[in-house]
Amino acid sequence: MTVLVTGGAGYIGSHTVRLMRSLGRDVVVLDTLERSSADALLGAPLVVGSIADSELVTRMCRDHDVDSVVHFAAHKSVGESMIDPGPYWTNNVHGTVQLIEGMLAAGVNQIVFSSSASVYGTPETVPITESAAIRPENVYAESKAMMERIIEWYGVTRGLRGVSLRYFNAAGASMDGVIGEDWTITTNLIPLVMKAALGASGPVKVFGHDYPTPDGTGIRDYIHVEDLASAHVAAIDHLTSGGESVAVNLGTGAGTSVLEILDLTAKVAGRVVPHEIVDRRIGDPAIVFADANLAADLFGWHAHHGIAEIIESAFAWHSSTS
Ligand code: WQD
Repeated sequence: MTVLVTGGAGYIGSHTVRLMRSLGRDVVVLDTLERSSADALLGAPLVVGSIADSELVTRMCRDHDVDSVVHFAAHKSVGESMIDPGPYWTNNVHGTVQLIEGMLAAGVNQIVFSSSASVYGTPETVPITESAAIRPENVYAESKAMMERIIEWYGVTRGLRGVSLRYFNAAGASMDGVIGEDWTITTNLIPLVMKAALGASGPVKVFGHDYPTPDGTGIRDYIHVEDLASAHVAAIDHLTSGGESVAVNLGTGAGTSVLEILDLTAKVAGRVVPHEIVDRRIGDPAIVFADANLAADLFGWHAHHGIAEIIESAFAWHSSTS
């Protein structure tokens, strides 16, 4: 049986496709390649098209004997979503409805969904558990929360079974340096730090130095992209073995500050990373990290790579491709 991976040519998608193929799993990727390259697929079967084409989805499911879908395809920029929200409603939300209609028409009723910890907004307490309030603070996060609920309602009405994986901060690159993140389309901290460390940009702007944290800078739960990939395989196996629909945090349970990221990168790069302290970025919470116990209890899954390997693999990848 085959897994259909939407957005499989993207950052987390390509690492998940690679892992699944290395485990002998059959996959087929559906991707528009609008914001990714087929190079990252390393030869995995690819159909260039949109999740919104439900007839294409149905045909792919039938042609490739699909039994599960892993759904990565989505626009994912917080800042862009607040400037131009339309595509986040059409591509992310409407596209997900069309994808589900297409897969159900072929009798496929298992989906693993790439959600985000941003659905929690600013947490009242940390670590964040899956029972925390869902309070998105931007259009991107709202679209992820809506996609989760659409999957839930298709469960109530049409028997769809789904696992929504709420990623904390995805980072790093494959430990063997073969694939990694494309830093041209990101506003996330770690690729921007690598860019500055490699002299490919000006200084990193540190958004705020007056947060209620030990060093005054924002703390996040950075999780290695290969750990995310293994969690998707565990989630598929959970559904295939009859497990219930659920939303699950994917994090390490530990937080790292911006200045700590800069220090760790300086040690790996052998030089100080140029940076400057600027005002806080509006909407940034001070501290966000996961309670990752449910993933351990349900899937027997844990993150294996710590922040050092995240920084080392990211620096090695960006050094080799810049
Ligand atoms: C991390 C920390 C910033 C850039 C967002 C989305 C989330 C997920 C990951 C998709 C914060 C600080 C950042 C910079 C900085 N995306 N920072 N200078 O905001 O935690 O999460 O991306 O799923 O859904 O909400 O990630 O990497 O932007 O910021 O100081 O140039 O780094 O203030 O403390 P964030 P980030």
